[in-house]
Amino acid sequence: MTKHPRKIIIDTDPGQDDAVAILLALASPEDVEVLGITAVAGNVPLPLTQKNARIICELAGKAQTKVFAGCDRPLVRSLVTAEHVHGKTGLDGPQMADPTLPLQDQHAVDFIIETLRREPAHSVTLCPLGPLTNIATAMQRAPDIIPRIQQIVLMGGAYFEVGNITPAAEFNIYVDPEAAEIVFKSGVSLVVMPLDVTHKALTNRKRVEAFRALGTEPGRMVAEWTDFFERFDMQKYGSEGAPLHDPCVIAYLIDPALFQGRHINVEIETTSELTLGMTVADWWGVTERPANALFMGNVDAEGFFALLTDRIGRLG
Ligand code: RIB
Ligand code: CA
Repeated sequence: MTKHPRKIIIDTDPGQDDAVAILLALASPEDVEVLGITAVAGNVPLPLTQKNARIICELAGKAQTKVFAGCDRPLVRSLVTAEHVHGKTGLDGPQMADPTLPLQDQHAVDFIIETLRREPAHSVTLCPLGPLTNIATAMQRAPDIIPRIQQIVLMGGAYFEVGNITPAAEFNIYVDPEAAEIVFKSGVSLVVMPLDVTHKALTNRKRVEAFRALGTEPGRMVAEWTDFFERFDMQKYGSEGAPLHDPCVIAYLIDPALFQGRHINVEIETTSELTLGMTVADWWGVTERPANALFMGNVDAEGFFALLTDRIGRLG
């Protein structure tokens, strides 16, 4: 039986790791068909995340990719950004030329709604790599799309690994916990890549040099992005290398066997200031709360980086 690529929408706040995820997706047309890329405010403000998304598509040589700008702030809270991790541009490391790829006029939320209404039910997977503001806004504005979503595979949250922006919360969930609550309570099939698994997808010298050794512009950029991006985690965790958080989402779509997790209940803290944005994951099944997410805990890191290097090597 011929395998058809999964239709996906990537919702993103580039960010170096988002950039690697987008390159992986655009390099894998036999596995994923990218219907569009929707930018959201997160790592850096929206004008930069939408610009960065267009830069990345051009770097991949996929200038026909449709990029849309979405929400410029969370549902109810002020925007929190992460320049301390990603730099002022969000893609610090190498010098990047301004994009020529045009931004679509349509708002990202309208694109998400229109696409889910047009495509056959259960044929489109949403891949959020940043705060969940665009996804939650689409669900609020058009509840009819919720049962039409095939699956949501997202990067966000943490349990055993605890937080990276507060002691309790991971950045994507912390920035817009109300949006995360809407998505986690939506009833849509969820696959979650928390810090518990992404902190096991760490670059190291050998892995970064393998990107550089590709001898291509995308390979060089990935090496320079990860060289820049790793310094935050090395200072904070004393770890060698940068956790490639967002590429775990796309790698799962290509080869789910790389990952292991549990189907459990995950709920979002939205009221306590102390633990705001925490993903309360019932990993040990101590409650009767219904399972709503496949929450990943492990990855075959060697297999992940082999896939990533091979696919990035197709570009440029
Ligand atoms: O906490 C890591 C997540 O926050 C990643 O998606 C990174 O790009 C930032 O958005
Ligand atoms: Ca991101």
